[in-house]
Amino acid sequence: MITVLGSINMDLVTITNKDPLLGETVIGEHFSTIPGGKGANQAVAAAKLGAEVQMIGRVGDDLFGNEYLTHLRNLGISTDSVKPVTHGKTGIASITVYEGDNKIIVVPGANLQLTPNVVEEYKEEIVKSDWLLLQFEIPLESVEKALEIAHQGGVKVILNPAPFEQIPKHWFEMITYLTPNEYEAEELFSLYKNDQDVLNSLIDKLVITKGAQGVLLYDGKKEVTIPALKVETVDTTGAGDTFNGALAVALSEGNDLKSACEFAVKAAALSVTKLGAQSGMPSRDEVNRLQEK
Ligand code: RIB
Ligand code: NA
Repeated sequence: MITVLGSINMDLVTITNKDPLLGETVIGEHFSTIPGGKGANQAVAAAKLGAEVQMIGRVGDDLFGNEYLTHLRNLGISTDSVKPVTHGKTGIASITVYEGDNKIIVVPGANLQLTPNVVEEYKEEIVKSDWLLLQFEIPLESVEKALEIAHQGGVKVILNPAPFEQIPKHWFEMITYLTPNEYEAEELFSLYKNDQDVLNSLIDKLVITKGAQGVLLYDGKKEVTIPALKVETVDTTGAGDTFNGALAVALSEGNDLKSACEFAVKAAALSVTKLGAQSGMPSRDEVNRLQEK
């Protein structure tokens, strides 16, 4: 089983042909509310690919929260560990899509109620998992608590360090794979540029996603690039999340890192062909069909 402990946001998505300057008003093309949040996106990506998935998170006791719970359940994701809280609204992300690319402002709301104490309550749920997926849209101390529980319980962990936060070096031994995008990777390298030991211990855990440039990993010290697929991009929101969810699925099925990345790159490519973080996330069949081509 794959467990995702992380954020749940409703995405408020505006498509515009003009990107307003500060203080400027423009008329947009289209608006919709679409389920998102890095944690839930990764859970949905894994579930759509056929994995057994449980989500640990927090929503508000409000319209978006209720809607989201139904959405996750309809996808077969276990939501026993997703509780509506009374103090705090469901997290939202205000997203502007302009020429296929996006700008995002996240207001975490109820996600901040996923405190270390709450994480501790889900110890059993965490240790019964094969893989745990974590990101940075919940409190940093809660990520640390989850890492400690997973480490003690022998659960393998993918940490997607997004949006970027400084990762303390004592975390690295608790992480199986770290999946920054290229900007987050740069931040990480500059954080530890004077600590060669840390960089050495980090290198074989790194999987760097580079959008249209594919994925970079290391075989020993040798760089290995897994090329991206050329697709017609509608919306890149959630492409990284699709990659992480798919990576967890392929690894949990016993694939080695390189083939798991190849699978995840295909899933991520399909995800950008539709509007919204989750709408384009492919089923197993859709990925397989791409493989046959
Ligand atoms: O990674 C994409 C996600 O980031 C969006 O769904 C939005 O909710 C933000 O959390
Ligand atoms: Na998409």
